Amino acid sequence: MTYKVIQWSSGNVGKHAVRAVAERTGMKLVGMYVFSADKAGRDAGEIAGIGKLGVKATDDVEKIIAMDADVVLHTALPSLVYGEEPMADIDTFCRLLASGKNVITTVGYMYPQVYGGKFTKQLEEACRLGGSTFHSTGLNPGWMGDLLPVTMTALSRRVDRIHVREISNFQHYPSPEIMFDMMGFAKTPAQFKNDAERYKFWLSGLFRESVQMVADALGVKLDEIREKTERALAETDLETAAGLVKKGTVAGQHWEWAGMAGGEKVIVHETVWRMHESVAPGWPNGDHSIVVDGEPRMEVKFDARWIGDGLQGTAMHAVNAIPYVCDAPCGIKTFLDLPWIVGKGTVHVPKKKADKKKKK
Ligand SMILES: NC(=O)c1ccc[n+]([C@@H]2O[C@H](COP(=O)([O-])OP(=O)(O)OC[C@H]3O[C@@H](n4cnc5c(N)ncnc54)[C@H](OP(=O)(O)O)[C@@H]3O)[C@@H](O)[C@H]2O)c1
Repeated sequence: MTYKVIQWSSGNVGKHAVRAVAERTGMKLVGMYVFSADKAGRDAGEIAGIGKLGVKATDDVEKIIAMDADVVLHTALPSLVYGEEPMADIDTFCRLLASGKNVITTVGYMYPQVYGGKFTKQLEEACRLGGSTFHSTGLNPGWMGDLLPVTMTALSRRVDRIHVREISNFQHYPSPEIMFDMMGFAKTPAQFKNDAERYKFWLSGLFRESVQMVADALGVKLDEIREKTERALAETDLETAAGLVKKGTVAGQHWEWAGMAGGEKVIVHETVWRMHESVAPGWPNGDHSIVVDGEPRMEVKFDARWIGDGLQGTAMHAVNAIPYVCDAPCGIKTFLDLPWIVGKGTVHVPKKKADKKKKK
């Protein structure tokens, strides 16, 4: 079976996805939706920096809706960045799902149950209409703070606390929309405070989804998810791939979402974000870590220089999910519903060296 794939948007993650789909057997890119008018009409492969694939990008949503495809890889920005209502993404997903295409997104909504019944009902109804499946994925959230800790607990006799810590330096993340518009870096404290209410749903929501998914996976009932945050301002102008972060504007954010049970933090998701390595030297530094405290105590650490790889990793988690999502029953399918997603077909088997003796 060859899965027919539509790529929705062509930013960092989208380009990685196109490259991967193009090189996989069993997958074929059949369409690409772009927002930018100057990309419409161009070849999807060329936009992704590889050779022509014979697939023209379009900015016409109706063309995409009418297209025959198995799955849409949706790697756009959340629509609220563009002044739309929070949750307007759900309308886009529903149109695609109702047209009979499965949807895998990296934009969020990994555990949409967190936002209440209205949105899950909307998504489920669209899936029912189209006989399709909705899945959301990513690196963090989506792998590090969700799948890894849950997987580790397979060895646990008793778990007292799970603590996930992401430490990221975004100096090389080339997206002003994500860094500045969405995450609020490079804003004055007053601007940040002003936007915080609007973006709260998104930033907080994403990681609440993670904490809740881990709690539900492990069958622990949370009393609440407590949120804590502090910010650091740039002490000098900072040059970053997303643009200039001026002195006195937000250059660091330290967040914690703690799932509380019995008055204790039982599932903690902490993120330490800097726009430059020099920011907030007193905050935790070093590797990402996942600690499962209990019997036994387990700790996994890995290299924090994840940005370049992280964008690819986010795309790969979506691409590798394609067969699982396409073959799943219709409806919302989170990590807790799908089989174990692995990188099928990714193992590079070296060609056997020619047997020189035989040749002679
Ligand atoms: N969970 C994770 O670990 C993780 C990690 C990284 C990123 N992400 C998410 O993945 C998504 C893509 O990230 P990225 O780094 O690829 O971002 P990006 O490079 O900034 O690209 C985002 C794309 O959004 C598109 N866009 C333009 N106008 C838009 C509109 N009105 N509404 C929605 N999208 C619009 C553009 O599409 P065109 O180029 O087609 O015009 C742009 O290329 C984001 O939602 C990000 O938050 C998740």
